[in-house]
Amino acid sequence: MPPLILHVTGARPNFPKAAPVIRALAAYPVRQLLVHTGQHYDDKLSEVFFRELQLPQPDVNLGVGSGSHGRQTAAIMTALEDLFVERQPDLIVVYGDVNSTVAAALVAAKMGIPIAHVEAGLRSFDMRMPEEINRIVTDRLSSLLLVTSPDAIAHLGNEGIAADKIHFVGNPMIDTLLGNIDRFDSHVAQRVHGIAGDYVVATLHRPSNVDDPADVRELVAAMRSVADQVQVILPLHPRGWHRLAQAGLMDHPQLLVIEPVGYLEFLGLVQGAIAVITDSGGVQEETTVLGIPCLTVRDNTERPVTISSGTNRLTTRADLADEVKQILARGRLTHWPTPPLWDGQAGPRIAEVLAQAVNA
Ligand code: UD1
Ligand code: UDP
Repeated sequence: MPPLILHVTGARPNFPKAAPVIRALAAYPVRQLLVHTGQHYDDKLSEVFFRELQLPQPDVNLGVGSGSHGRQTAAIMTALEDLFVERQPDLIVVYGDVNSTVAAALVAAKMGIPIAHVEAGLRSFDMRMPEEINRIVTDRLSSLLLVTSPDAIAHLGNEGIAADKIHFVGNPMIDTLLGNIDRFDSHVAQRVHGIAGDYVVATLHRPSNVDDPADVRELVAAMRSVADQVQVILPLHPRGWHRLAQAGLMDHPQLLVIEPVGYLEFLGLVQGAIAVITDSGGVQEETTVLGIPCLTVRDNTERPVTISSGTNRLTTRADLADEVKQILARGRLTHWPTPPLWDGQAGPRIAEVLAQAVNA
């Protein structure tokens, strides 16, 4: 029987990364099993990606749902252990830095199943971020480390990971972006939301911005100052919805807060924006390729290549409105660099490494 490659996904950023890998692996004599842990379950955080990105429906949905870090990670581990015993995969593939990623890596490592980590080696060096813990643990347990940028190779080397496990393959998230770029329609997206003229798109969901009430107050004040200058549309992740609403985010006439939107609509909005404000990882990468100035409201980024070879800039809540003012004065970019190997071919490169690992 052909070898079995089992993909573990579960949260919104996993899906656009997994899609090109699964598609490219179809050309090899392997069996594939797609697992959705159920970490995300709202239509716009999950199902919409399967409809829009030609992802096959998950073969298994573990339906774990939300919970504290310990409970959620443990629930995923418990369910995955049973599944791995039943299916006996030859290789598991995990994506990014979410709880589903680290949970799968822990279970597979204890069972002696080789792990491939897509988007390995990114480091914010900020252990207050749950994602940083997830990245470090997952990388330590993986036997194939598939990296998106040269800095990641250096981080893994510094942590003592052997060079022959590390493969610089480019960025599969960008495969999905470039593969769908003709389907983004900023005019339709603007019409749907009644936007005309210059506007900024924002996404905010990091615990460092939306969990603590003092941070939330500062963030809402900053966003309102931005909206004094330019229209803002903010598809808001459920994590911070209640706290941000209570702090007055929803009652500025130029600040349109909406529920998360589907992938194509989101990137349509981004493509037409004068700037993006975010604390997302993926959005820093997407704006870099689309040439849209990106203000990342964080102390650090695990994706410095989006600053050195892209359009990203770190900022604070206090400086945000001034930064937007400067972008509005400067206008749209006409030239911008793109990081190496963010060329739409990461999926095939990853598939080749995975197939070789299982002798397919
Ligand atoms: C998770 C990831 C984060 C990623 C983000 C992307 C971890 C540790 N964090 O954060 O890295 O940037 O996803 O979107 O894995 N909720 C819903 N509907 C859903 C899912 C969640 O309403 O479909 C609400 C629940 O109240 C839940 C909260 O959002 O408690 C947080 O969800 P969770 O998956 O724990 O973390 P995220 O903040 O989404
Ligand atoms: N995204 C989307 N709709 C939205 C906001 C984001 O489709 O309303 C997409 C966007 O392409 C982004 C991806 O979801 O890159 C995952 O990003 P998210 O910010 O959730 O996760 P992170 O990259 O921060 O882990």
